Amino acid sequence: MKSSLVIGNWKSNGSLSGNRVLLDAVASGVPAGVRCAVCVPYPYLAQVGEILEDSAIAFGSQDVSEYGYGAYTGEVNAEMLAEFGCRFVIVGHSERRSLFDESDETVARKAGAVLDANMVPVVCVGETLAQRDAGEVHSVLQQQLDALDTVRGASRLAGLVVAYEPVWAIGTGRTPTPEQVQDALGFVRAWFAARIDDADAVDVLYGGSVKAGNAAELFALPDSDGGLIGGASLVADEFVAICAAA
Ligand code: G3H
Repeated sequence: MKSSLVIGNWKSNGSLSGNRVLLDAVASGVPAGVRCAVCVPYPYLAQVGEILEDSAIAFGSQDVSEYGYGAYTGEVNAEMLAEFGCRFVIVGHSERRSLFDESDETVARKAGAVLDANMVPVVCVGETLAQRDAGEVHSVLQQQLDALDTVRGASRLAGLVVAYEPVWAIGTGRTPTPEQVQDALGFVRAWFAARIDDADAVDVLYGGSVKAGNAAELFALPDSDGGLIGGASLVADEFVAICAAA
């Protein structure tokens, strides 16, 4: 059985002095055997790579350009991230989709750019509260996942990680019931099973107000392979405890 994958998403947080304190504690506290990573703001990639150099903790970024090298002012491309040692790149986080108008097609192109650079895209999907209340969870997930299909082709789908993050659970302290989480994770798994041979090998994560107190229950769900952790990844003891529950 594969070990769980726990990825911290620092969002727009961190400082040169604080990063070192946090990561020293995480690197020494995360139990062996748990696959763990932190996705950090671009300016900290070099520092984080150096701090984690001798640890088992991987790192990555929270976004990427859909373009390569060239006249794209302000963009950071996938080759650059790979050069800095990134293993994971989050794409399509709901904050990118809602605040920066990223479409399903943009997200798919970014995922493709990450795969092209031999890194692992962590593709975020999930519904808003209005969509859940309207009974649209499966149709929203289907649409977000289908974009990956149409833009990138089935042959590369096995290289993705998918994080189910209901928008209404992010940073709110609210979590879906375990049954609701399993239903969504199972839907994602079935989407892959219809397209690739070994859907169980794809890491399907849950994200949204995961804490030390609820991690074990969420990670134990049949289709859970771990979690994408926001706020709690900034608190060493909490993040280590979440990893220990994985
Ligand atoms: O990427 C992480 C998610 O947005 C979850 O954030 O754990 O602060 O709710 P949160």
